[in-house]
Amino acid sequence: METILVIGATGNIGVSAVTAALRSKRNVLAVVRNQSSADKLVKCIGSSDGITFAEANVLTDSGVKGVVDQVREGKLPAFQHVFSGGCWRRVYYNPLPEITTAQLRRNFNISFEANFFAYRDTIGYLLEQKNPASTWTICTGSQGDLATHPVPAMTQGALFPMATAAARENESTNVRFNEIYLGFRVEIDELAVQHGVTKATDFGNVYEMILATPEVHSSRVRVDDVYDLKKLKYQKKF
Ligand SMILES: NC(=O)c1ccc[n+]([C@@H]2O[C@H](COP(=O)([O-])OP(=O)(O)OC[C@H]3O[C@@H](n4cnc5c(N)ncnc54)[C@H](OP(=O)(O)O)[C@@H]3O)[C@@H](O)[C@H]2O)c1
Repeated sequence: METILVIGATGNIGVSAVTAALRSKRNVLAVVRNQSSADKLVKCIGSSDGITFAEANVLTDSGVKGVVDQVREGKLPAFQHVFSGGCWRRVYYNPLPEITTAQLRRNFNISFEANFFAYRDTIGYLLEQKNPASTWTICTGSQGDLATHPVPAMTQGALFPMATAAARENESTNVRFNEIYLGFRVEIDELAVQHGVTKATDFGNVYEMILATPEVHSSRVRVDDVYDLKKLKYQKKF
């Protein structure tokens, strides 16, 4: 049985990836920051079956590396796929002149560096395993182009070239790297119902389809409206 390492597993997007993994009969290695985050995920999913938890601070440059080290030592299960839901909490919506240096740095750490560390410190492991079915998937957002909110826009924008570089670097490897470019709001199901936005479990369809479609490779998968939750809309990134 395959295992998916999920970064940001308790977030809106991470929960959708966990749902997709379990629905497609895969196990999950969920990176969480503490036990209360793990409990939150179990409450959201309704069970801990198929989920192994790894505690780490993904905002530090040794957090994800420590998880991979434990996998190599056999203390945590081997994984064949990575999904990065990034980190998004505590964003600031200030106009550019009002963004403090601390806010800027904090947000690049939360929303860009966490994804960068996740990629840098897991890709070598997937390449070494040589599993021909491996994938690495990142979720970015259209805010990176719209820039109605400068702080999240700038951190999202920085992820686009990172995703393109990773797509290039893995064009001929055993790892299918893809970016999901999300154009609307997704939240964990309970909150989505309250706020009238898309449920994480519905958004999970997109990741499930990517896992099941080997032709999707080094691509941007666009999710612009609800129709894109049923049929993959993708284009090679270069
Ligand atoms: N949601 C959307 O509609 C949407 C739309 C477009 C793009 N996106 C993309 O998806 C990404 C995630 O969005 P989201 O809505 O899922 O965010 P979110 O709900 O705020 O989730 C953030 C995740 O990061 C975790 N986290 C934060 N700090 C951490 C730390 N120090 N160590 C370990 N984990 C930590 C959180 O864990 P805790 O639960 O412990 O706090 C949570 O799992 C965004 O950056 C963006 O790229 C989302």
